[in-house]
Amino acid sequence: MTYENLLTATDNGVLTITINRPDKLNALNKKTVSEISEAIKAAKDNADVKAIIITGSGPKSFVAGADIAEFVGLSVEQGKALAKMGQDAFRSIETCPKPVIAAVNGFALGGGCELSMACHLRVASENAKFGQPEVNLGLIAGYGGTQRLIQYIGKTKAAELHMTADMINAEQALTLGLVNYVVPADQLIAKCLEIIEKIKSKSPKAITGVINSVNAYFENGMDGFNAEIEEFGKCFATEDFKEGTSAFLEKRKANFTGK
Ligand code: COA
Repeated sequence: MTYENLLTATDNGVLTITINRPDKLNALNKKTVSEISEAIKAAKDNADVKAIIITGSGPKSFVAGADIAEFVGLSVEQGKALAKMGQDAFRSIETCPKPVIAAVNGFALGGGCELSMACHLRVASENAKFGQPEVNLGLIAGYGGTQRLIQYIGKTKAAELHMTADMINAEQALTLGLVNYVVPADQLIAKCLEIIEKIKSKSPKAITGVINSVNAYFENGMDGFNAEIEEFGKCFATEDFKEGTSAFLEKRKANFTGK
């Protein structure tokens, strides 16, 4: 299958999905999100695919977030629909019965951090940077980030990262438990393949059992994902959201008024 914004290649049972919008630092527009869903669905149904790597095109960015240009002019309802679409796509990664590893090769911000967190494992290159900077735009995370970041690093640090919009580097992400490994950029895919080789030698059914059971631990908290959709949507009615997104697109600092 060919995609507009993804490159896909299967080698030795490993499907590599590369988000391919390098001019926009691989920002996730709606088309890309829906293509990710399609690629994951196709991989689930393809017996030749045993494991999946998701990475970004170019040396600088995994994914620098949802595509901010597409936020302009959205209503509250459209905002909620966007969050639901992103959450559903990322949930399809999390519930994929085959192991999915994020090879985080640079910026993993906003939707990029959320995409990496939807994968079962994360390997980061030394230049990777993680963050949830949506508040800079008068927004909150909407693709599961308010929920999954807590799952990985706990409420204390997750609340700080969401509220300050601070970026953390790969070593900090490792210390916090957000990533499994940090490696030099030129060893990123090799490290993912090394992990996959280990997993591939086990029973695929047992691996699916691990994925389902690990996911089940968090499923009582599913209400939080709905709260995120509501709160993400509400942001679209605020002056601050209009100011935040305009400021980013006009390459200036936002001046928030609380309206
Ligand atoms: N949505 C849309 N476009 C984006 C984007 C996003 N999330 N992130 C980067 N881009 C675009 C920029 O607008 C720019 O496009 P242009 O060349 O047409 O002007 C291009 O990608 C390169 O980005 P630039 O900002 O020039 O690169 P940089 O190295 O100076 O800064 C970042 C890199 C990641 C710090 C910066 O791009 C950034 O802050 N991005 C937004 C991150 C964010 O808020 N994500 C959450 C969104 S909900």
